[in-house]
Amino acid sequence: MFFEIQLNMKNNKIVILGLNGWFERGHDASACLIIGSEIIAFAEEERFTRRRYSFDSMPLLSTAYCLDEADINVDNIDLIVYGWDLPLEYSLRGRDLPDFKKYIISSIFPKPLYRYQKIPKIKFLNHHLAHAASSYRLSGFDNASILVLDGQGENASGTLAYAKNGKIKLICKIPISYSLGYMMEAACKFIGLKTFDAGKLMGLAGHGKKGKVFDNFIFNKLTYSLKDFPKDIDLLKDSLDEQEKIINAWIKYFESKFNFKKNKVVKFNSLKGNLNTEIQFDQSQKDFAYSVQLTLEKAVIHLAKSLINFTGCKDLVIAGGIGLNCTTNGILISQKIVDDLYISPAANDAGVSMGAALEMVYKIKESKFNRLDHIFLGPKFSDIEIKKVLDKQKIYYIKVKNIEKLAAKFLSEGKIVAWFQGRMEGGPRALGNRSILANPKIGSMHYVVNEIKSRENWRPLAPSILEDYRKDYFEKSSFSPFMLQNHKVYINKAKEVPAVVHTDLTSRYQSVTKKANKKYYQLIKEFYKITKTPIILNTSFNIAGEPIVCTPDQAIRSFYSSAIDCLAIGNYWITKK
Ligand SMILES: [Fe+2]
Repeated sequence: MFFEIQLNMKNNKIVILGLNGWFERGHDASACLIIGSEIIAFAEEERFTRRRYSFDSMPLLSTAYCLDEADINVDNIDLIVYGWDLPLEYSLRGRDLPDFKKYIISSIFPKPLYRYQKIPKIKFLNHHLAHAASSYRLSGFDNASILVLDGQGENASGTLAYAKNGKIKLICKIPISYSLGYMMEAACKFIGLKTFDAGKLMGLAGHGKKGKVFDNFIFNKLTYSLKDFPKDIDLLKDSLDEQEKIINAWIKYFESKFNFKKNKVVKFNSLKGNLNTEIQFDQSQKDFAYSVQLTLEKAVIHLAKSLINFTGCKDLVIAGGIGLNCTTNGILISQKIVDDLYISPAANDAGVSMGAALEMVYKIKESKFNRLDHIFLGPKFSDIEIKKVLDKQKIYYIKVKNIEKLAAKFLSEGKIVAWFQGRMEGGPRALGNRSILANPKIGSMHYVVNEIKSRENWRPLAPSILEDYRKDYFEKSSFSPFMLQNHKVYINKAKEVPAVVHTDLTSRYQSVTKKANKKYYQLIKEFYKITKTPIILNTSFNIAGEPIVCTPDQAIRSFYSSAIDCLAIGNYWITKK
């Protein structure tokens, strides 16, 4: 046994609370509760606080939700595990060590809000190990090559590892100064986006025509290094991370190679009747984004190939923010670099609360988990609860027996439908429980939905497809339940669903199965019956940069504050006309 744990729960089921989020250098705060071998709850803090990415926040409301979902109290928790080794993080930088455990308990479970007799044990886990576990332990693979790539962990920006029958073994680490995550952040900043806009940059790259891999990468046997970037950047004593220093080094590199003007334009939003300021990119900037994407692809593919060559295992798991780069993931599949690929739907830092908890379950009980093909682990609301909210706000609705059929009919007629059902999904993508849906066969839907969400019009929108039909539409693709692969759409099929095909003829689809989400599957099936197309446009149910909606109240507010036509909330149907 890894260390002694006194079990509290009946049936000897261990109760582990995984956490992410800290008051400095923190983002994507989240909480995850595992009891025995079951993930009971997982949610990002931003869904409750309504502050996107939860910068410098503790996972307070997400923790409260987890305990509530399991109907347990603090005394029932056997172990709290953090997805960061905070003591190591501080000591590496010569910082005074605060009493982390005391701080965590007093801030997450303040008295008198929580009553408890004993204080749970707290463990800190290496950040990249938590990332690795978040994908590997839910992949269903016995053995897997593991690639973790993000901005940085305590002392690395990348980790190559191998898992054999449950044990994760480190192979090598990539220094912080060579961070691919920070390269992406720097490129975003350089072009006028926000540093966390790597997803937008990927979308912009699809508009690029000419691009080349940056000339400062030196690829060696297992990893790579960067010319003129010091391998061991000085760890900063006045700050907990090296992000600023590395981003500035990248900006300097970009300035020596590219010369851009930042063009802000004011444009009229015809749906909202107001003016928006938006950055408009010219072809040279789109080509820059394309070069960034090519460089990232070259680096990740090199690492994947080297790692697979080293381990001999072509089943690959990826975690860390770079795992959200769908274009790179698609190449790993279409070029058959991997046999199978599994990426946590919360590959970003939010997923380390889950990864840390999963890792501790394995260390203590050697429990294994089945492959996870859905992440509906957030709050749910019954029809009775929804009705109370609607009645209180004097909203006119009808209760429908087959809401899937009704929603499919309205979608086929070109209406935009907000779809609020069941447990909220975790991770950055909406996967069919908190989604805005539209008809992908109508090309203008791309613009209408982007306008509704105040999204830039050059950004692509993604489809959900019944898995049974996926191979008819996407070339050299594989099962992708979390919308994490980008693949070419067959040309004849691209014409069928123009609203969800990017300018480079690719699409970042979600494979939908009955097993993972019966109601959503049924909705698409009903749409198929009417239109003969097994695909709908699916984007997250949030407006203008807000986090994805969590509660009925938030759904109603977003519905009425936007140009969405209909709201399907539980079995209730609401329209504006
Ligand atoms: Fe990370």
